[in-house]
Amino acid sequence: MKNVLSAVQPTGDLHIGNYFGAIQNWVRLQDEYNCTYGVVDYHSMTAPYQADKLRENTWKMVFQLLATGVKPENLFIQSLIPEHTELSWILSCVTSYGEMTRMTQFKDKSEQIAGKDKSAFISAGLFMYPVLQAADILMYRADYVPVGKDQEQHLELSRNIAQRFNHQFGREYFAHPEPLFTATPKIMSTAEPTKKMSKSLGEKHYINVFGEEARVRKQIRSAVTDAGDTPDGTMSPGVKNLFEILKACEATEVYDSLMQDFKNGTLRYGDLKPAVADVLVGVLNPIRERYQEILGNRKATKELITASSWEIRKRAQKTLKEVRSIVGLPKLRY
Ligand code: AMP
Ligand code: TRP
Repeated sequence: MKNVLSAVQPTGDLHIGNYFGAIQNWVRLQDEYNCTYGVVDYHSMTAPYQADKLRENTWKMVFQLLATGVKPENLFIQSLIPEHTELSWILSCVTSYGEMTRMTQFKDKSEQIAGKDKSAFISAGLFMYPVLQAADILMYRADYVPVGKDQEQHLELSRNIAQRFNHQFGREYFAHPEPLFTATPKIMSTAEPTKKMSKSLGEKHYINVFGEEARVRKQIRSAVTDAGDTPDGTMSPGVKNLFEILKACEATEVYDSLMQDFKNGTLRYGDLKPAVADVLVGVLNPIRERYQEILGNRKATKELITASSWEIRKRAQKTLKEVRSIVGLPKLRY
């Protein structure tokens, strides 16, 4: 069976863009592949953060992923497997400084952190972030990595690192991981539907997967639908986004019937919005209920994921044992 690996940073609440764009796919892939998913807390140390908040958000992301249907035995917390940092160091020595300087996300993120402040602190960790990501991927011999388009360059780097390692040490040790781009839609902001839904845009712009039903309904009711409406009958971005949400929820009949209305020129937003809200809360309610159950069971869930991380760590240790031998380090007792 082929190996799949993906990971997410513990950033707080998941929004429906994250869910429909990525996590829903993670859950489905579990039926077909040998999947391993990580909450990458080491990666979240690369930008300024608060220690307590990081730990809190790490567990929160674990609980939320479990609520969406990620299987506990497939889930690990990155820092519970310190081999990730060790492999990252080893891989950094087969990565050229030049290729690191070409990583566009570093440029974007460092500009985001600094804003206009030329003297802002940018960590070397942020610069090295893609090598740690390559370590996550290569550690478990991933064949496929389900990610968004924005991660394409990091995946290419992971393949280059694998290739250079194999070449330098004269053996085909690491697999060549391929990205698996999700066919699932790009969900746009409900307040400004020309922009991608994102937490950084502010509260009005994203729908929290774990928000109360009344709030989800209200956000769909107040979703911008008329901005950019064109007289020639093409669909405005806001209406298109609502249809995308229907599609992501697999509400085929509702989708087809409302789309027919649109084509006939008889679609009323007064009909579209409640229909989308009904379908969406139908998908989100069970997830929120599972989340509440998990929150009521925090202690046992933490133990469960500490244990699954420990099991997954054994695979990481096997990799490190082999890698240490290949690169010329002394034997370590595990
Ligand atoms: P982020 O925390 O923004 O890095 O996102 C985590 C995952 O969700 C990544 O795989 C993204 O590609 C995906 N994602 C984020 N925002 C959206 C969106 N608005 N629509 C679809 N997918 C998204
Ligand atoms: N860099 C990824 C992001 O920003 C998160 C990530 C870390 C990741 N390690 C990974 C994704 C390994 C896929 C595989 O979304």
